[in-house]
Amino acid sequence: MKPLRIGIIGYGFMGRAHSNAYRKVTNFFDLEYHPVLQAACARDEGKVKAFAERWGYASIETDWRKLIARDDIDVIDIAVPNNLHAEMAIAAAKAGKMILCEKPLGFNAKDAEKMTAAVEKAKVANMVWYNYRRCPAVVLAKQLIDEGKLGRIFHYRANFLQDWTISADLPQGGAALWRLDVKAAGSGVTGDLLAHCIDTALWLNGGIKDVNAMTETFIKERKHNLTGKVEKVGIDDACAFLCHFNNGSLGLFESTRYARGHKALYTFEVNGEHASLKWDLHDLHRLQWFDHRDPGIVRGWRSIHVSDGDQPYMKNWWVPGLQIGYEHSFVHQVADFLKGLETGTPARPNFRDGLATDYVVDAILASAKSKKWTKVKQVK
Ligand SMILES: NC(=O)c1ccc[n+]([C@@H]2O[C@H](COP(=O)([O-])OP(=O)(O)OC[C@H]3O[C@@H](n4cnc5c(N)ncnc54)[C@H](O)[C@@H]3O)[C@@H](O)[C@H]2O)c1
Repeated sequence: MKPLRIGIIGYGFMGRAHSNAYRKVTNFFDLEYHPVLQAACARDEGKVKAFAERWGYASIETDWRKLIARDDIDVIDIAVPNNLHAEMAIAAAKAGKMILCEKPLGFNAKDAEKMTAAVEKAKVANMVWYNYRRCPAVVLAKQLIDEGKLGRIFHYRANFLQDWTISADLPQGGAALWRLDVKAAGSGVTGDLLAHCIDTALWLNGGIKDVNAMTETFIKERKHNLTGKVEKVGIDDACAFLCHFNNGSLGLFESTRYARGHKALYTFEVNGEHASLKWDLHDLHRLQWFDHRDPGIVRGWRSIHVSDGDQPYMKNWWVPGLQIGYEHSFVHQVADFLKGLETGTPARPNFRDGLATDYVVDAILASAKSKKWTKVKQVK
């Protein structure tokens, strides 16, 4: 096997999810390349050292520029807050590194354009961690749509609902809470949660033509963890938008962190001429399927337990009936990235795909501000 030396920046939620995937991937997938955990980087030396020891990274850095300058690193994995993605990715591309970047790709679409131009100019392999594309049930949905089993598509509906920011006492800024600080996150639920829904939608149902959105910030001021002062909240706490897809279907999306009782309720539903399908992250190994062409006496919603060997990715895991979960979507993403290097057909979503989502995010934020239907810039 050929080694692929990984240098990861960030040891938080995604630092752990990615590291777990690197460690597991070659145990379950037959691949020519295998990831080597070469270096972990973050600013706090003690913390990054503890992370490196726990996950098996051979070395550490506390300055990401030093990590990128190292000639014993092949891939830079960016798992840090959104405001840092562009600078790191552009520097990594210039240094000729392959890049796996967390979502949303840029702080805004302008940054994402620069990042896309940088990787394409440097001709380095690139990918964005929109991991829900790698849940077997979501891939099955894609298969059914691509085979034409739904017929003409009329509706695409998606929600991403959480409830963890309802308390006005929750501060903004710093570890994990950078999501509430617009200077680190760029936007609120739109870039954080809806970006996932948009990426899946673009993949399943094609491009979005225009959007009409509303956003709300329910808690207007919060204490900032880094300055200690009460500061204005600049993110959107909730967002809902309507859209037209290029294929003529209508889209309806909603996201909030104020839906009491919901933790990570990412759901989508697609309604076609012949059939409908539904997926729910809380039950991610199932796909709900309704086919109007079934005989009337047995027609109804089917709950498909996606665990059979002929369903996406499942032959690499256990035996039929035994399901897999959240972390496996990251394992699949690494497997597909490595397979892409091997076959010469790069895995997606690449930076250009990430840019497409950022164009939709920017249009949503602009529409919410102007209160008008807003055209979405299309990627070429
Ligand atoms: N794909 C997904 O489902 C998913 C889920 C969660 C987060 N994310 C994305 O992943 C990224 C990271 O989110 P997270 O939840 O892991 O955040 P986190 O707060 O858990 O971790 C962030 C990490 O970045 C490090 N960091 C911050 N500034 C740094 C700097 N200047 N140099 C080096 N390291 C620095 C921190 O030390 C920390 O280790 C974000 O872009 C987020 O949108 C994606």
